[in-house]
Amino acid sequence: MSMQNKRDFLDLRDFTRAELLRLVQRAIELKNGFPQIGAEKPLAGRVVGLMFEKPSTRTRVSFEVGVHQLGGHAIFLNWRDIQIGRGEPIEDTARVLSRYLDAIVIRTYGHDVLTQFAKWSTAPIINGLSDFLHPCQVLGDLMTLKEKGVDITSMRAAWIGDGNNVANSWITAAEILGFQLTLACPEGYDPGVEYDPTFVKVTRDPREAVKDADVINTDVWTSMGQEEEACARKEIFCGFQVSADLLKPASPTVYVMHCLPAHRGEEITDEVMESYHSLIWDQAENRLHIQKAILEELLKP
Ligand code: CP
Ligand code: NVA
Repeated sequence: MSMQNKRDFLDLRDFTRAELLRLVQRAIELKNGFPQIGAEKPLAGRVVGLMFEKPSTRTRVSFEVGVHQLGGHAIFLNWRDIQIGRGEPIEDTARVLSRYLDAIVIRTYGHDVLTQFAKWSTAPIINGLSDFLHPCQVLGDLMTLKEKGVDITSMRAAWIGDGNNVANSWITAAEILGFQLTLACPEGYDPGVEYDPTFVKVTRDPREAVKDADVINTDVWTSMGQEEEACARKEIFCGFQVSADLLKPASPTVYVMHCLPAHRGEEITDEVMESYHSLIWDQAENRLHIQKAILEELLKP
């Protein structure tokens, strides 16, 4: 469906700092069911497509449920089952689908697929993860920290492991909101975004990264699409596990986050995942609430 001045959400930078903080606040309100919120159906009569080229549990289900709760209807489109999987051009697919759909959530490999799609689509495009960024995840993570009382504009955050898509979105968040982020990555696995050293540092030493941290983040050593590197990566990343021992130099009340799915015993131990430090299950739930806030914003009349 055509929308004038449509906005996409491919990158946290698509919103201003004030808008990101407002979305986080709105998601907390939606979660807490402020009076009348349940009665509002801002997506009534709207249809949202979910076009996925990679597997997903959380993103797919939380978007489908979120669209339903807002009064809309979601259609899941497996990449392999539609003509784009047989080579129909992005510009054709985008123009056709946006004549039917009011918004499209896309999970794909190359970030350029998303930017191309957004260029040709008249409906808002939402990044449901690319090889480069995962903005819905990180905005949900920020909401999770805020609801625990962490000041997300002045916290000290650590990232342990691969400088991957989720790490890149954490870097963007640090630069927009102004918090300190130190990433510990093995040589050759630094983040793929340029970063501002005022807010972001990269070290090879996980203990240095977690020193006095309020929150420690990690993610799989092998992301989707890198499966043939998994054996080599296990060796390269073995000193980058989030374990009870690694938590010692951090704040005693440090929170631990993981976007999931986790490889228990690799990037994170069972003990830490199940400890009182872990925000992992709240993070997963909050994908639902933050994405409802994002949909509400992008589809407002
Ligand atoms: N964290 C996350 O995006 O999970 P899924 O791959 O299950 O969607
Ligand atoms: N970095 C991971 C995140 C999964 C949600 C991947 O891209 O596979």
